[in-house]
Amino acid sequence: MMASGAAWESAALARLDGQSGVVVLKRCVDVDDLLATATSGQADVAVVGLESPGLDPAAVAHLRRYAVRPVAVVSRTDDPDVLSRAQRVDVRALVAFDDPEGLVEAVTTIEDAEDTRVRAEPDAGPGAPVVPDADAGADRRLVVVWGPGGAPGRTTTAVTVASELARRGRDTVLVDGDPYGGGVAQQLGILDEVSGILSAARLAGSAHLAERFDSTCRGVGDHLRVVTGLPRADRWIEVRGPAMEQVLGSALERGDVVVDTGFSLEDEPGQDFGSRPSRNTMTLAALDLADEVVVVGAADPVGLSRLARGLVELRDRTGGAPVRVVVNRMRPTLGWSEREIAGMVEGFTRVLGLHFLPEDRAAVDRALVAGRALGEVGESALLRGIAGVVDATFPASVTVQGAGRRASRGRWRRAPRGRRD
Ligand SMILES: Nc1ncnc2c1ncn2[C@@H]1O[C@H](COP(=O)(O)OP(=O)(O)OP(=O)(O)O)[C@@H](O)[C@H]1O
Ligand SMILES: [Mg+2]
Repeated sequence: MMASGAAWESAALARLDGQSGVVVLKRCVDVDDLLATATSGQADVAVVGLESPGLDPAAVAHLRRYAVRPVAVVSRTDDPDVLSRAQRVDVRALVAFDDPEGLVEAVTTIEDAEDTRVRAEPDAGPGAPVVPDADAGADRRLVVVWGPGGAPGRTTTAVTVASELARRGRDTVLVDGDPYGGGVAQQLGILDEVSGILSAARLAGSAHLAERFDSTCRGVGDHLRVVTGLPRADRWIEVRGPAMEQVLGSALERGDVVVDTGFSLEDEPGQDFGSRPSRNTMTLAALDLADEVVVVGAADPVGLSRLARGLVELRDRTGGAPVRVVVNRMRPTLGWSEREIAGMVEGFTRVLGLHFLPEDRAAVDRALVAGRALGEVGESALLRGIAGVVDATFPASVTVQGAGRRASRGRWRRAPRGRRD
């Protein structure tokens, strides 16, 4: 029971305590106390004040994950404001505070329809992982998609890689870590005023991220979770390096991780911000944790010279995560052969592999207009190319699909061994 000091608490407590079949386990002082009690796995019902500070949809979802059914005590059950708040936080059982018999009835008969709830293991303490993970895999990878300025297709690549991975049955978390404002939500048609990365950063600040990470994700299909990005570029200041590290750590608890990042690797703090973190903390923190970096460059002359500079910058800046290069928007009118481009790229840095993705405006537009991932709007040359990137970057995803699948779709070249800068 958690009433945050509301006047109805003593009467409700007295009425419930004497009721046969009901044990009042605990009077919780606040929502955090309530959530910790739910995690212990002993409670069946939470009687809450609907106005209690911190009682938000994520908190209610946490209760349900532990099979604790929420009953809210409210001033009136027919007040539209009350009903809309109850709907917002997703509490369906409401009882008026002057109706103690109704409360007893609600507590003893409430049955939530959800069947996805997971009963806590008896010995799981507060902070234990909420969702038991059947395939907790040692083969999970954190892959960061980076690329220089000029919109070479980082977000398109990250979104398509993540959704293809999920389509192959791998649990996948796509994190929009672009400090210049995220584009992942738009590409996936996620219309939501809540920014996943900002809620995750706030939870990281209050040490509840590990247990409530799922509440910061939007589910897309069966295997993809998306942490949406900054709603406006100027909110970057709210996501600090350690918070980003925690977000990625929590993401890895759930599955393979794909991170979309910004273009800049500069780590000077902005003049106005004194000792505050650099503008590019999100990008740099992700690169520091990457198992592999996929660098996306555009195939035109401007794009390729930016790619060349970017590869050198990346080599100097990062601690040596292996780099795979994707040259995007290849088209015959540019007059470069793949061989020429390969020679240029390999002259700048050692790469794990080099992939060429075709210009494919029709497929990209189909996906953008539908607000869906490329893989959900039909076959395309671009999708086949990106599937090849997934084969190479997440080899475990190839075996998930089973025998008969070719090891690599799409064209890609492995860099000649021993050749480097
Ligand atoms: N292979 C392709 N063929 C045609 N259009 C493409 C291709 N790849 C990306 N695009 C288009 O190019 C534009 C930029 O792509 P995207 O948003 O993925 O780039 P970005 O590098 O993430 O850019 P930003 O710097 O804005 O984050 C989008 O309109 C996208 O649809
Ligand atoms: Mg982008």
